[in-house]
Amino acid sequence: MNPKKHKPEVLNFTTKAIAHFKHKLSAQGKENKIRLGVKKSGCNGFSYYFEFVSRGNKTDKVLKVDDMEFFIPSDSIEILSGSQVDFTIEGLNQGIKFINPNASAVCGCGESFTVNSLPEKDGSNNLAAAQKKKLKILPHKDLCPDGLEFDLEPDETILDACLRNGIRLEHACEKACACTTCHVIVKEGFENLEDASDEEEDLLDKAWGLQPNSRLSCQAYPVDEVTVIEIPKYTINQVSELT
Ligand code: FES
Repeated sequence: MNPKKHKPEVLNFTTKAIAHFKHKLSAQGKENKIRLGVKKSGCNGFSYYFEFVSRGNKTDKVLKVDDMEFFIPSDSIEILSGSQVDFTIEGLNQGIKFINPNASAVCGCGESFTVNSLPEKDGSNNLAAAQKKKLKILPHKDLCPDGLEFDLEPDETILDACLRNGIRLEHACEKACACTTCHVIVKEGFENLEDASDEEEDLLDKAWGLQPNSRLSCQAYPVDEVTVIEIPKYTINQVSELT
């Protein structure tokens, strides 16, 4: 599935910022795209970040600026919306500067900021959605005997969330969508997941214990509320060892 396009007014780049990023990208090899977003910083603030990447995450929005491609994490869009990205030189310091209409307070060095309450859409906003996304794992005899419920990080797959919380789901192909050992069954909240790609749909047919609401956890990104999953009793590898 291709990343979604988003409205160009989310970020506006000055000519100086465009020239700066072009210069930086000219020195990059394969990582010739830029992922730009915000992350939590301190107890209630955020900070900006950007990194050079060869491709974005599945849920990123794509922004084309001149010949450059920027990827914006979905949970950063609303906080960044309407910002101007500039390149400034002040005394001995130079660098990218964000002028963000959603920032209510900016620290002295300009690196971290807090946000005004963001405009609500359909009774929610991305930040609130990111805060309330939860994953509930039903009990599995070996991997999670008592079941577990935890919060999801932004842009996190079900597999990564499970591994982060000590649930050792098998992932033989290292998340390359090539093995089905990370297969899970979504008992509630199937509609909370990003759609499966054609590649995932095709591979799922080989999963042991396939159900209509099956997903490959390494490819499934929850985007809202609570998702409840069941870990199948066996993976395809375990079944072939038993037979
Ligand atoms: S880890 Fe192999 S398909 Fe998910």
